[in-house]
Amino acid sequence: MQILTDFDLTPYNTFAVSCRAYAFCEVFDSSSLRRALDYASAESLPVLVLGGGSNVLFSDDYPGLVIRMGIPGIELIEEDGDQVQVRAGAGENWHQLVMHCLINGFYGLENMVLIPGTTGAAPIQNIGAYGVELSRFLVNLTALEVNSGELWTFDREACQFGYRDSVFKHCRPGELIITSVTLQLSRTAAPETGYQALQEELQRRQAGTEPDPLLVAQAVMAIRQSKLPDPALLPNCGSFFKNPVVDEATCQALEGRFGEVPVFPLPEQPGYVKVPAAWLLDRAGWKGQRRGAAGVHRNQAVVLVNYGGATGAELLALARDMQRSVAEEYGISLEPEVRII
Ligand code: FAD
Ligand code: EPU
Repeated sequence: MQILTDFDLTPYNTFAVSCRAYAFCEVFDSSSLRRALDYASAESLPVLVLGGGSNVLFSDDYPGLVIRMGIPGIELIEEDGDQVQVRAGAGENWHQLVMHCLINGFYGLENMVLIPGTTGAAPIQNIGAYGVELSRFLVNLTALEVNSGELWTFDREACQFGYRDSVFKHCRPGELIITSVTLQLSRTAAPETGYQALQEELQRRQAGTEPDPLLVAQAVMAIRQSKLPDPALLPNCGSFFKNPVVDEATCQALEGRFGEVPVFPLPEQPGYVKVPAAWLLDRAGWKGQRRGAAGVHRNQAVVLVNYGGATGAELLALARDMQRSVAEEYGISLEPEVRII
């Protein structure tokens, strides 16, 4: 494990914001992770764990040690009838894990194909897409508590998952470092095809037949590629804001003003729904807006993009203006999904 100083983080965040870390290293096992933490402690440096950098906005240079999570490994650890448990190292690429599972006939993750980033970051905001969230499959995860040096196991309940939320989002960055994740999957295909855009895509592809998980994955990939900009071509972090959760009265008030509002149910919170932030922002005129090199994507009003050379501060200023405008227009507060560092 090599510690590099004054390290350029531009290629390590999908916003491609130019920024530097005081120190940087990559870890590929628990012992090198512990050595990195010892170094940070000896130098009194704050610690930030970075996976694929697809959900972070650096507002400035980072004055501490950035540890890039690279712990590898995918193993089948248990089989019981058609149920299987798969354990993956935190540094495994999420999309590759989904594809590995599909190819081996372990089903469930197909709707979450092509979400960028690492497996270790997936529980942080309980990643989700097209009607499915990680929490449905997580059995447990292991996390290193930085202060004590102890390795803890968190089961699903202990993770306190919610919509784009978990217990890990509420602790200090670097307090708990996820090292592996165990998922329960099934050998029996039972695709979740209720999400409207997915239903329509499946109809187009194979009307009248039962969709199998591989077809669902292909349909999800096609929708994602048509809707979301590829960070390699146009740097971005996906949805910048979470979809706000509103009560029925707020929803009815919106419908009174605008007619039909596209809402998503929230089964864990009866009486509340999610309103797409993209819809609110689009109606407020944000789609395609540009401030120098920082902008809002032309097809997706909740996706901020860097046209080249935008600073973290510029992207953040744009995001703050978008929040203010939604608060003024609808009285709704938008919460960033992206972690601002
Ligand atoms: P990073 O950005 O590196 O880190 C995110 C946060 O997690 C940081 O606070 C970091 O400190 C912390 N962290 C990372 N790894 C660890 C670890 N091992 N232990 C402790 N803390 C850690 N998300 C969705 O939910 N659904 C989507 O459909 C979706 N689509 C996207 C599309 C695009 C084009 C992009 C760019 C992003 C999208 N995202 C989506 C967001 C992003 O892919 C996820 O949040 C992903 O889980 C981030 O993984 P990462 O490894 O890049 O995390
Ligand atoms: N819409 C607009 N204007 C736009 C874009 C969308 O009015 O510019 C409308 C659409 O017509 C649709 C609704 O908003 O009725 C929802 O749009 P979409 O299906 O694209 O989903 P989203 O709410 O914008 C969420 C997640 C995505 C996830 C998709 C699919 C959040 C914050 N975002 O997006 O996750 O991939 O659903 O499940 O929950 C991410 O978290 O980074 C992310 C990309």
